[in-house]
Amino acid sequence: MEFGIWLQTLTNIFPSSKRQNSKLEMPFHTIVPESLSAPERHALMLSIVIPRPIGLISTISVDGLPNLAPFSYFQAVSAVPPLLLFCPNRNRFGRIKHSLINARDQREFVACMVTEEMAEAINYASGEFHDGVNEFEEAGFTPLASELVKPFRVAESPIQMECRVREVMEFSDKPLGGSIVIGEVVRFHISEELLRKSDGNLSQAVDHPEYQPISRLGGVAYGLLRKTFDMPRPKMTDDGKVVEGSHKITRKADLRTP
Ligand SMILES: Cc1cc2nc3c(=O)[nH]c(=O)nc-3n(C[C@H](O)[C@H](O)[C@H](O)COP(=O)(O)O)c2cc1C
Repeated sequence: MEFGIWLQTLTNIFPSSKRQNSKLEMPFHTIVPESLSAPERHALMLSIVIPRPIGLISTISVDGLPNLAPFSYFQAVSAVPPLLLFCPNRNRFGRIKHSLINARDQREFVACMVTEEMAEAINYASGEFHDGVNEFEEAGFTPLASELVKPFRVAESPIQMECRVREVMEFSDKPLGGSIVIGEVVRFHISEELLRKSDGNLSQAVDHPEYQPISRLGGVAYGLLRKTFDMPRPKMTDDGKVVEGSHKITRKADLRTP
């Protein structure tokens, strides 16, 4: 262990008397990432950035074998171009995941949103199956042909997005080593029910109470969208001042020391 890291770890275990006596409203425990084992870091990161949406990622191998796995390191990135990302990290033995191999080789994937009814089956599909296993069949999902890409859509999912790979980044070949796959959405397939407005026409965006994707929290916990609130963006004057909308923080941190 490097001296600096060792010292920081020691400071965390034996905080200085000044820190102990301070009247911080929120004393902070500082962690140097390198002082944790990879699994500990994994658990910490999973527990902090929550809730994470889940993308059920469908890919296909060069031999034509379909593959399906859930990823909660999954996010929308931009609209121009319409980008999504998912992060197939290496497993605890350093083995590269099928989803990464297929996305890298075939440059295509389909990202499907996950509802509560699909929860058990996406968890089932996350099992570390051997090479040659088709998780559509294993978990019982129904494959639907895509319009522009080879990987199948998942018929049980209310929103499926066909993507072409724009970028693959690999950061480490160690156990749990990270990687990012960025894809451009070339087709959105959205259940009409989720787009139907009260006048019967279809909306251009999803704003429907029936759309309840689940999210991943820390450990083995999952979240549901049960309580939401609306907050319009602040209106600004031409010279950059807020005229209407949100207000400043009301409860400030007390950082005074005795
Ligand atoms: C809800 C959920 C979210 C997951 N998120 C990720 C993730 O973001 N990155 C990752 O590498 N593995 C994640 N996993 C584990 C993979 O799904 C699992 O390793 C799977 O076997 C990978 O399959 P593959 O080898 O066919 O790609 C997640 C599992 C579950 C149940």
